[in-house]
Amino acid sequence: MCSKVSYRNYIRIASKMRMLLLFFLATIVVSSSQGSDLGLSHQIHLLRPQSGNQVPGLSCLSWRLGVETRNIIGWTTVPKECEGYVGHYMLGYQYREDSKVVTNQAIVYAQSLKLKGDGKDVWVFDIDETTLSNLPYYAEHGFGVQPYNSTLFNQWVITAKAPALPESMKLYKTLLSLGIKVVFLTGRSEEQRTVTTNNLNHVGFHTWEKLILKASSYTGKTAVEYKSTERKKLEKNGYRIIGNIGDQWSDLMGTPTGNRTFKLPDPMYYIS
Ligand SMILES: *[C@@H]1O[C@H](CO)[C@@H](O)[C@H](O)[C@H]1NC(C)=O
Ligand SMILES: *[C@@H]1O[C@H](CO)[C@@H](O)[C@H](O)[C@H]1NC(C)=O
Repeated sequence: MCSKVSYRNYIRIASKMRMLLLFFLATIVVSSSQGSDLGLSHQIHLLRPQSGNQVPGLSCLSWRLGVETRNIIGWTTVPKECEGYVGHYMLGYQYREDSKVVTNQAIVYAQSLKLKGDGKDVWVFDIDETTLSNLPYYAEHGFGVQPYNSTLFNQWVITAKAPALPESMKLYKTLLSLGIKVVFLTGRSEEQRTVTTNNLNHVGFHTWEKLILKASSYTGKTAVEYKSTERKKLEKNGYRIIGNIGDQWSDLMGTPTGNRTFKLPDPMYYIS
């Protein structure tokens, strides 16, 4: 059915798209080189590539792979020379594509399950960089190059303006349509329950079985300890954790983890 005419049309459209893309890229280059002069530093698309500042021998792509595979652990900040790399990754299409691979696998898995339908099958979602994106904040703080500052980050959290991660939203909706309930399990503190609820609601996450925030009794405990303890409680209460998704390995470790875990990309910060 693929006639010559439609193929020629395809080529014509493809070449038009290429022109558009070039124009778009040129616009980005111009705006990023002039952004500070124009007072546009609040815009999240403002990239600051650190070319000329490479540490010899450090490949930022290899660094990211090491981070995502948990070969590199316990790091506190993104290497300075990788700010441009991580910024381009997060704001460009690759972050979205990488996220889509993860959530599509999760959807295929969820659709393959034969569920009891008794309302006890749950899927655990982390929140930050899993359900909601803090990219507007991180774009203004060096994409993880600047040391984490809880005061500044919490000021951002209480604005309740974090956008939804679109691929995670698709997974969330699919799970609900399959009769799987969602449990949010987040390192955000119990005091942030209202802003977190508001933020989730604003961006389209309207329903959940539980929203578990970190109680003060967990102060000083690692995320692995806190989150696996809470998952154990869920199972004790009769829930079956059939899936678990997070951007941090600490969302997916400890006992129990859930039947399957899905790791979303996050090259900006590490939580143990
Ligand atoms: C966090 O940021 C605030 C506001 O800029 C600053 O006053 C404070 O010293 C910072 N805290 C740390 C630990 O850097
Ligand atoms: C989850 O894992 C348990 C233990 O291996 C197994 O019995 C159960 O059938 C699994 N559930 C699903 C929905 O695959």
